[in-house]
Amino acid sequence: MWRVRPCTHTENTRSRSSLFRNRRRLRPRRTLRTSRYGVRKMAKTLVKAEGLSKHFPVETGLLERFRGNQQYVHAVDGIDIEIKKGEIFGLAGESGCGKTTTGHCLMRLSDPTAGEIYFGDQQRNIAQLEGTDLKKYRRDVQMVFQDPYESINDRFTVRKWVREPLTIHDIGTREEKENRVWEALDQCGLKPVENFIDKYPHELSGGQRQRVSLARAMVLRPKFIVADEPTSMLDVSVRAGVLRVFKELAEEHDVSILYISHDLSLLRYICDRIGIMYQGEMMEVGEANAVLQNPKHPYTQTLLKAVPRVDSRNERNRVRISGEVNERIGGIQGCAFKDRCQYRFDRCDDESELLEVGKTDDHEVSCHLHDEEVEKPIPVYEG
Ligand SMILES: Nc1ncnc2c1ncn2[C@@H]1O[C@H](COP(=O)(O)OP(=O)(O)OP(=O)(O)O)[C@@H](O)[C@H]1O
Ligand code: SF4
Ligand SMILES: [Mg+2]
Repeated sequence: MWRVRPCTHTENTRSRSSLFRNRRRLRPRRTLRTSRYGVRKMAKTLVKAEGLSKHFPVETGLLERFRGNQQYVHAVDGIDIEIKKGEIFGLAGESGCGKTTTGHCLMRLSDPTAGEIYFGDQQRNIAQLEGTDLKKYRRDVQMVFQDPYESINDRFTVRKWVREPLTIHDIGTREEKENRVWEALDQCGLKPVENFIDKYPHELSGGQRQRVSLARAMVLRPKFIVADEPTSMLDVSVRAGVLRVFKELAEEHDVSILYISHDLSLLRYICDRIGIMYQGEMMEVGEANAVLQNPKHPYTQTLLKAVPRVDSRNERNRVRISGEVNERIGGIQGCAFKDRCQYRFDRCDDESELLEVGKTDDHEVSCHLHDEEVEKPIPVYEG
């Protein structure tokens, strides 16, 4: 652990390369290069967002609005994401950092305030789609929600619930619909299908309900699924089974998945790549192992140190993140994490961009400490 000794840039005479090794200057954040890892490294990009932003107006009085003082919550602020075919991309960060809003924008459940979203083999821009085109896009993208108890209609049998999207989109004959429902239930591990298809939700366990939700998403044969904390309400014993289904969908059916979760140990198990968000911005992104085993951003490092461990010897070293994530109203001058960062120095008031770090060529971090062109204060090691 080291602390930054306050000093001015001009006082720092020590060689920068001796202080910060393994750093290379990277391109600006708008041009994320394709990732290279495992078997997915050659896969085509399915979803790509550039400069994605979503701002919500804050409720204010009429007078304030009349004076032109409307303020906005910057839920998502200019992030880039790239997800390949058959890839599971994990999105993590503290509550309120904009994970769900990002998922909603990519699905076009929410209209982005700014930025572009490219989708499919042709990388068509879907950020402004409307009407029939938007309805067609919604066949290719599906969402799985957090709560399997709230997200299923209790009056429908499994068959009727899973078949409903086919009816809404007017897909197939009666027989084809039935076949697709069986196929989706089978893919999601509800086997033998005849034991589940005529049941009502109250006759199912939490894990089985979440598999039904997943089957409803899969029945349209989507290319992209946004899963928003899909296992957080499930018992640990059934969680592994549901996670396995996600992995199989990605590996065997080439479905791309945006997996949103607070649980970094779970993301390590399931994801190919991970993005860490803070106050609407992407702080660190890259191959899951690189980000979680060798975190470079002070925020990611703190998040990982805050993860509870079973080993009680490690409990003493557990870190609690000081300060709170406040709703971000308006823009921020400089680094979004600066008010809580122990390494803050004067350059942190300037905007940072994603920089390539580490040994892999798929690991990027938005922090001035990793910018070779920035003079940094001398780090003081403790202990
Ligand atoms: N419809 C809305 N109107 C106004 N503000 C909103 C709206 N939806 C989200 N926000 C704000 O946007 C920010 C990001 O919210 P979001 O739900 O995306 O966070 P999250 O990372 O998913 O949090 P959690 O982990 O708790 O689910 C929050 O400050 C939230 O209050
Ligand atoms: S840019 Fe500065 S404040 Fe932000 S994380 Fe890096 S050192 Fe901390
Ligand atoms: Mg959320």
